[in-house]
Amino acid sequence: MQQTPPIRNNIVLIGFMGCGKSTVGRELRRLLNYPLVDMDAIIEERAGKPITRIFEEDGESAFRDLESRLLEELAAAPATAQIIATGGGVVIREENRERLQRLGYVVWLSSLPEVILSRTRHSQERPLLHADNPATRIASLLAQREPWYRQSAHLTIDTAGLSSREIAGGILESARYFFAGRPHVPCTKP
Ligand code: S3P
Repeated sequence: MQQTPPIRNNIVLIGFMGCGKSTVGRELRRLLNYPLVDMDAIIEERAGKPITRIFEEDGESAFRDLESRLLEELAAAPATAQIIATGGGVVIREENRERLQRLGYVVWLSSLPEVILSRTRHSQERPLLHADNPATRIASLLAQREPWYRQSAHLTIDTAGLSSREIAGGILESARYFFAGRPHVPCTKP
């Protein structure tokens, strides 16, 4: 009989730009006292420049390479018991979708396009939304990515009308059931 490979004891937040991954990540950190790994921040630190400049100077695919390499490291590292906030495009590459599955309990924070638009409208930090018509850009990226978010997630949360505290509380509760029911790598400090 084939054995299910053990899953790392992390909570991984995925979802489109502006869906609240960082805010909910901080709330989970407060509740659990686990370290918060913000993938975009690590990529910026390694590159020595903000994401907008990585896109401008090196191109999107260079950014995706950095993102994939970091995800691979996280999926291979012995450290568990972390909260991992991913960038919205992490699901684009198939190998990343596979890595997410090994990395921990994957939660998709989902929001409506109009909510995403209002949350990202004034952001200068998201090069993919520097478009003449950000609403159209959001709609087309969402249409492309939603099947990948759905396929990668163990849990989907429609964030409409919920506070980040309520979302984090729901994630904690369901993560307990999830990890109780399957083999997982026991917690080690990162
Ligand atoms: C991206 C989302 C961003 C960042 C980069 C690309 C995307 O992260 O990784 O600008 O492709 O959706 P957030 O989802 O944290 O904004």
